[in-house]
Amino acid sequence: MQTGTQALLPRHIAVIMDGNGRWAAARGLPRSAGHQAGIEPVRTIIGQCRRQGVAALTLFAFSSENWRRPPEEVGHLMDLFLDALAVELPNLQQNRVRMHFIGDRQSLGAALCQRMAEAESSTAANDGLQLQIAVSYGGRSDIVLAARALAAACQRGELEPAAIDEARFAAAVSLAGLPEPDLFIRTGGEQRLSNFLLWNLAYTELYFTDVLWPDFDAPAFERALQHYASRQRRFGLTAEQQAPK
Ligand code: IPE
Ligand code: IPE
Ligand code: MG
Repeated sequence: MQTGTQALLPRHIAVIMDGNGRWAAARGLPRSAGHQAGIEPVRTIIGQCRRQGVAALTLFAFSSENWRRPPEEVGHLMDLFLDALAVELPNLQQNRVRMHFIGDRQSLGAALCQRMAEAESSTAANDGLQLQIAVSYGGRSDIVLAARALAAACQRGELEPAAIDEARFAAAVSLAGLPEPDLFIRTGGEQRLSNFLLWNLAYTELYFTDVLWPDFDAPAFERALQHYASRQRRFGLTAEQQAPK
């Protein structure tokens, strides 16, 4: 937790990339065209994070609730993930990006699972930006699975229930080991979390913009960083306690 002198650059940014469908509808295009157009800003934001020295980036690509969309749209999104991963991997590798996927892999097809596992293993030794992609991810499920794992450890006699504290719980959720997100960005105008990182966003600065994800470019990202740099994070303390001595 950062207190006192405020770091101006977030170490970890979490993003809900929303608004692809509306971007396409505004152009008389099918929703799939909006998802396709959403690839370029992913590239841009990864590049910006690398250049600026942001340590970790977590992107919400597909929620556990998105399975309820029409099958054609879900199928298109899965094909897009499969293709994009193959196309982008060499560039990510070259830029020393380390990739990790969070979410329910069992709900995904075998080909996608395999490509995700390959992307993780081939980038595991990279020391650049840590990139997490949330696919078939739900924040409540993340918490439930962590509780289940801790309960199982108790049942095996490896853990005392009284030893379960916030640090131990944090070590059992999907983003274990990463600093908590300092900045949350949601594009597309909605001001909600949509079951994203419920455990991890407890003290994250929230930034909402009406810009639709396919239009989210480097200047739009810079505005989000400027918003972050202007916030005073107090973590429960008074403003006076936070003032630099
Ligand atoms: C976000 O854009 C992408 C996914 C949820 C996969 P949307 O598809 O939700 O776009 P809108 O919100 O309908 O415009
Ligand atoms: C959240 O966007 C999920 C992703 C961006 C992957 P949604 O468009 O699914 O969220 P709701 O349904 O508007 O809350
Ligand atoms: Mg949406």
